[in-house]
Amino acid sequence: MNWTDIEADLKKILTPKRFNHTMNVVEAADKLAHTFGCDPDQAKLAALLHDCAKNLSDEQQLDCAQQHQIKIDQVCQNDPQLLHGPVGAILAGERYGVKDPAIQSAVCFHTTGCKKMSTLDKIIYLADYIEKGRSFPGVDAIRQMAETDLDEAMIMALSNSICHVVQTGALIHKRTIDARNDLIIKTRNLK
Ligand SMILES: [Fe+2]
Ligand SMILES: [Fe+2]
Repeated sequence: MNWTDIEADLKKILTPKRFNHTMNVVEAADKLAHTFGCDPDQAKLAALLHDCAKNLSDEQQLDCAQQHQIKIDQVCQNDPQLLHGPVGAILAGERYGVKDPAIQSAVCFHTTGCKKMSTLDKIIYLADYIEKGRSFPGVDAIRQMAETDLDEAMIMALSNSICHVVQTGALIHKRTIDARNDLIIKTRNLK
């Protein structure tokens, strides 16, 4: 599918609010791609697709993950919506014909983050976090950091996300901890 077809399909299957969020993420990803030397078309397509599995029920997330040998750990078992990233990566290829592994990776890890994130992975994670419709304490500081330093902005976003999850009492996915540790070790030159 080309961009217009994918956008039309998403407009049909996502709620208006989610679709609007998606288009805001496209805009934010485009800006970040220009700032951090990533292909803007690749970033925009990954952003367009990032929540393509968000309309699926918990049961559909689990079914799709199982059918495609996506690992369902205990955290995902209890919070199946965490699977909308990995399931979205499958849909990107199967439903939308987007086979670029870099795009699929960015869709896959946009919710939890992961170790050794690529520039595109980080751009989509952050674009999702700071798009113009988001408003939560601390978002402006992350937006400001994202003008100049991708890794520091990621550390802020991951830290904020972990604190938020702790406050809600929910389980934290291990990949989010891994992503944050990985970036702190790298940027602080730790062993
Ligand atoms: Fe998402
Ligand atoms: Fe999103």
